Amino acid sequence: MKKNIFIENINGNITSRPPVWFMRQAGRILPSYLRLKEKYSFDEMMQNKELAAKVTLLPLDDLGVDAGILFSDILVIPKALGLELEFTAKGPKFHNALDQNINDKNLIFDSSKLDYIYNNIKEIKSQRPNTPLIGFCGGPLTTFLFMFRRNESNKDFNHVIKLFYKEKKKCIKIMEMITEASVEYVKNQVIRGIDCFQLFETYCGIIPEEMYTEIVLPYSKKILNTAMDKNCKSIFFPKNYNNGLNQLNKGICDIASIDWQLPIETARSLLSSDIGIQGNMDPRIFFADKKEIEKYLITLSKFGAKNNNWIFNLGHGFIPGIDVKNVNFVVDWIKNHNWNR
Ligand code: CP3
Repeated sequence: MKKNIFIENINGNITSRPPVWFMRQAGRILPSYLRLKEKYSFDEMMQNKELAAKVTLLPLDDLGVDAGILFSDILVIPKALGLELEFTAKGPKFHNALDQNINDKNLIFDSSKLDYIYNNIKEIKSQRPNTPLIGFCGGPLTTFLFMFRRNESNKDFNHVIKLFYKEKKKCIKIMEMITEASVEYVKNQVIRGIDCFQLFETYCGIIPEEMYTEIVLPYSKKILNTAMDKNCKSIFFPKNYNNGLNQLNKGICDIASIDWQLPIETARSLLSSDIGIQGNMDPRIFFADKKEIEKYLITLSKFGAKNNNWIFNLGHGFIPGIDVKNVNFVVDWIKNHNWNR
């Protein structure tokens, strides 16, 4: 592959500036994507390799980011395990979600249900072999939680959190099944050509930090290590893990992606020095005017001048409704700033 700043950076080389990409850059805020969404549903885009590739690559052309993230969703794993998934206008819906009895009898992994995603990866890499492509899947806890979510009226996950105390063994059994399916899924993503892998553990902070470390982290590690064992760099996004970040090291992931609840310097000092860091712009800042955004970037740039192993990203995905011109402003600013490296 031609030298690319994202690839150079994740491989530990010093780059003139931090590489930049954004969580949820493909499917939320781009006017070009929103126009396509008026014509096609999420499933239609996923099932058509040309469309899936187009949506994956839109942010590279429209925003100038340094890497693409595969257009897909974390819920494809529950679907491949046998849950009937529908993306409705109000969000995803499972027709046969798990309930308090946590009956795993109907969960059988059918890996052929993921074949269309592998074809999409192949299509993207054949169209743009030199563009770094990030593959992903959901963390074991986040995926588990969503398997109980029948529809948008399930506003919180308290009924599922309770199960971690009352039905720990059953919870672990399901997380094992999720992990096994995810391991297979990651392996196949790497074979089809992804350049980097991110594990989205967006709901990490929903259970106590110690509980995540004890019960869930070994499974997250297994999924991340699957990519690493195949020479594919792994990024772990354990949102709201807070002090739990001190559990992370090279044995678990190559890079930790952090949210905005901790200042980036604090997160850096909690993390083992042998891993890189990604994040952590507060996505709400995009609602501000350019002057205020620039003030924020200047503060962050002090960190960037001292830290090479940093990927610029958000602390979580874009919020729908933000002005894409402000995103262009941020990308251009990062590219044109003198990072004193
Ligand atoms: O840039 C991208 O959008 C990349 C692809 C991507 C999607 N979902 C597409 C999507 C990624 C990385 C995800 C991750 C995801 N999905 C997470 C973890 C990260 C996060 O942002 O929290 C979670 C918890 C989900 C589950 C999910 N999928 C929800 C809660 C929803 C509804 C609200 C939403 O986020 O849009 C989805 C639907 C979804 N995932 C859509 C897209 C483009 C919208 C589909 C549609 O509107 O038809």
